[in-house]
Amino acid sequence: MMRKPIVAGNWKMNKTCAEAADLVSGIIRELAEVTHVDVVVCPPFTALRTVSEAISDTNIDLGAQDLHWEKRGAYTGEISSEMLRELFCHYVILGHSERRQYFGETSESVNRKVHAALEASLRPIVCVGERLEEREAGRTSEVVESHVRGSLAGLSKSQWLQVVVAYEPVWAIGTGRTASPEQAQEVHEFIRALIGEMSDSHVAEAVRIQYGGSIKPDNARELFAQPDIDGGLVGGASLEARSFAQIVRAAIPEGAQE
Ligand code: PGA
Repeated sequence: MMRKPIVAGNWKMNKTCAEAADLVSGIIRELAEVTHVDVVVCPPFTALRTVSEAISDTNIDLGAQDLHWEKRGAYTGEISSEMLRELFCHYVILGHSERRQYFGETSESVNRKVHAALEASLRPIVCVGERLEEREAGRTSEVVESHVRGSLAGLSKSQWLQVVVAYEPVWAIGTGRTASPEQAQEVHEFIRALIGEMSDSHVAEAVRIQYGGSIKPDNARELFAQPDIDGGLVGGASLEARSFAQIVRAAIPEGAQE
């Protein structure tokens, strides 16, 4: 099956509204003509409206970096799916390792958020991945399996088809240390097989699995060339229009005309 690649920029806690407007106009200039890759930008909450307005007539899609599972209520500091939908968000990153590491996020809370996102017709980009000590102890598959099974429990087939999984080995995030294409492919293949067990083989073939962790213009192409890697979740290199655009172009399938 041909899965359409998807490249998302996770801006994390970077860019004021003015800076976000600048960055997104650069991204629009660079990527206006790209149609063979789904392109998503995920600014901080405060810049969502600015970016949403800027991309309204383009192929570029908007994502948020988190949400709360309740629709409204006494949850100081939180943001609901309804609030994101109002700003024309179509994607939301959930369970990023920084949220798991610094903010007590667990696969159980991620799962509640995944269901809340799907109910609101937001597509979750669900992050999974092992820490360095877990890889060194030979526990990569165990950790990834528990993230996938826990974070994505209880989905119907049609819900699965809305999900994007992002495999992000924690030791490769922001460190300049990328997983080799073979290391990444091995885990992606494992995740796809797990999805097959949790759902069925048709769903497993259709779900897009991104790689994330120090993707740069010079390593993107060989990562995206792997059979089970369907694009990337890009942090640092998404903060600059030129490097983000180069990474997006590296995901254009061979033979596709842009
Ligand atoms: P990085 O971040 O590209 O800066 O390593 C990736 C991510 O955390 O999504």
